[in-house]
Amino acid sequence: MRVLVTGAAGFIGSTTAEQLLTLGHDVVALDNLVRGRRANVPARATFVEGDCGDSDLIRSLGAFDACVHFAARIEPADSMAKPDIFFANNVAQSFTMIEALIEAGTTKVVFSSSCAVYGNQVETPIDEERATSPHSPYGESKMMVEQGLRWMAECGRLRAASLRYFNAAGGTLAHPERHDPEIHLIPRALDAAVGRREVLSVFGTDYPTSDGTCVRDYVHVSDLADAHVRAIHALDQHSQLTLNLGTGTGSSILQVIDSVQRVTGLEVPTRLGERRPGDPAEAVASNQRARELLGWRPQKSLLDDIVADAWSSYQTL
Ligand SMILES: NC(=O)c1ccc[n+]([C@@H]2O[C@H](COP(=O)([O-])OP(=O)(O)OC[C@H]3O[C@@H](n4cnc5c(N)ncnc54)[C@H](O)[C@@H]3O)[C@@H](O)[C@H]2O)c1
Repeated sequence: MRVLVTGAAGFIGSTTAEQLLTLGHDVVALDNLVRGRRANVPARATFVEGDCGDSDLIRSLGAFDACVHFAARIEPADSMAKPDIFFANNVAQSFTMIEALIEAGTTKVVFSSSCAVYGNQVETPIDEERATSPHSPYGESKMMVEQGLRWMAECGRLRAASLRYFNAAGGTLAHPERHDPEIHLIPRALDAAVGRREVLSVFGTDYPTSDGTCVRDYVHVSDLADAHVRAIHALDQHSQLTLNLGTGTGSSILQVIDSVQRVTGLEVPTRLGERRPGDPAEAVASNQRARELLGWRPQKSLLDDIVADAWSSYQTL
């Protein structure tokens, strides 16, 4: 297959591009490098620097068997400060790109959505039938693209899979997790363990969870990459898919910190603080649908395995 991977200089995009190349596919890796790192792009991919919303550029790349669309701004708190940027980048650019893809003859899109579309849910695990209720412009931007894709699939313009990831984590030696700013718990905990960050703040210790801290569903980036490859193939049978990608098991913040200390043998200096507005107590996926429709099984997503891979890849930075 010839596959366009947008956001391929980022964490999940680069890992997925690498997996597609390993399976023998041709990859065109597009990224404007606003957040990603050029070094992250797999050497065997054809790199194109530019905006996914540059329709002339997209048309000039010709037809693909599929586009896997990771390119986005991803920081929910930032989206509360600058929603305009998130809607312009994540929504407007996505639709401009999709129109150009269709014109050029590409009719399969696998889209990076997020559990942020569910907002603050009380009951977990969360399945795909749960009413969506994004709590940030970031989550809303994902929902808007999902809705557009659903209509385009409904109207026969393309075939689309929206994959709602829970917490992407782990890493591979070639593609470590490094966001700037870093908003994710495991790399922040590793930063604190090695002294790159003075202390790891824990926001809220009085949630209705086993130890009072928030519970999240961490899924290894390699398992996510595998699901994307499966989703491309599944679109031969299905014109439209909406699937959660998580493990179905939650870990609290304190459990993650314990795991980081166990795996690295280092202490994580921690500051326990107040809740942050907008954080749900628990976000854990039901992954039944992805299991059934993709035959997907997370293989690397036990917490200590995720942290061990995050730590090995962190040390390459
Ligand atoms: N990391 C997570 O836990 C998580 C969870 C749910 C969903 N997601 C989604 O997965 C996708 C990838 O996340 P990530 O963690 O790899 O983020 P990332 O920031 O590492 O990668 C995103 C990449 O997209 C590029 N980009 C942004 N806007 C662009 C544009 N208009 N044109 C071209 N390139 C552009 C950035 O430069 C960056 O390299 C995002 O869509 C994100 O919303 C991530």
